[in-house]
Amino acid sequence: MSSERVPVELCKGINGLEKVVLREVRGSSAEVYLYGGQVTSWKNDHGEELLFVSSKAIFKPPKAIRGGIPICFPQFGNHGSLEQHGFARNRVWSIDVDPPPFPTNTSSRAFIDLILKPSEEDMKIWPHSYEFRLRVALGPGGDLMLTSRIRNTSTEGKPLTFTFAYHTYFSVSDISEVRVEGLETLDYLDNLQNKERFTEQGDAITFESEVDKIYVSTPTKIAILDHEKKRTFVIRKDGLPDAVVWNPWDKKAKAMADFGDDEYKHMLCVEAAAVEKPITLKPGEEWRGRQELSAVPSSYCSGQLDPQKVLQCS
Ligand code: BG6
Repeated sequence: MSSERVPVELCKGINGLEKVVLREVRGSSAEVYLYGGQVTSWKNDHGEELLFVSSKAIFKPPKAIRGGIPICFPQFGNHGSLEQHGFARNRVWSIDVDPPPFPTNTSSRAFIDLILKPSEEDMKIWPHSYEFRLRVALGPGGDLMLTSRIRNTSTEGKPLTFTFAYHTYFSVSDISEVRVEGLETLDYLDNLQNKERFTEQGDAITFESEVDKIYVSTPTKIAILDHEKKRTFVIRKDGLPDAVVWNPWDKKAKAMADFGDDEYKHMLCVEAAAVEKPITLKPGEEWRGRQELSAVPSSYCSGQLDPQKVLQCS
């Protein structure tokens, strides 16, 4: 069998880090590094890259890979003694050979199950017992599905409390030509203004300066319209009530060592998240958070500026 058709392949990526390549028969593909359990590539069946990864990304522990889909766990943001966005994104995950069954089975053969459990060192930083199972699956039509299952495995009756985000970096042609639909009129916490709470205006969101907002209680579907590329990304999420929208813009871009000065023009983070209300699990309880990404040509949607039509037509 030619390697092109192998649905799941384990190989070496940048700096010898192990990665899993997923391939669907129609030509779409995805790559997942065991370092961070991080998706670093998602291509459609024309071979076009849909995620942004910085040309300056450092594929070397302990730095998280700048781009793709980092997993923020056990915290989103920067609180207390834990590092910003938690440590799941800079730990080496294992392949989960025998995951417990999913309620709905994936129709695709192109999927991988990963698992993260705390090491002794992790227990010193964050003394909690858990099993974090991540399934990354590529659907037959090229959709990318990530399902996280986090179980509290404490035998001492300890609750497990965490916040979470799929920190997805979408690749866009030109940030000034992009609009986000589905977050209009919602409340958000502005990270640039001490997390103060504001209400978004009624129009779709466009970008002309730095943005770092946590929209709360968002709908299960959000669309990113890239006019220049004539492409719409649709994010569907479940178990993740919030959505973070981030673009560092020029000044912050220059301040980041692993990010090119002009790269902010070609990326946008829209992150399915559970931030405002942390999740608490009793021993033995499991939480599930899922995001499904699809990329459709905008011309499919006759009323592409009408959020309802964009969301219905994929
Ligand atoms: C976003 C946060 O999700 O991630 C921003 O809202 C943060 O505040 C950004 O700057 C990048 O974080 P990091 O740790 O990957 O540089």
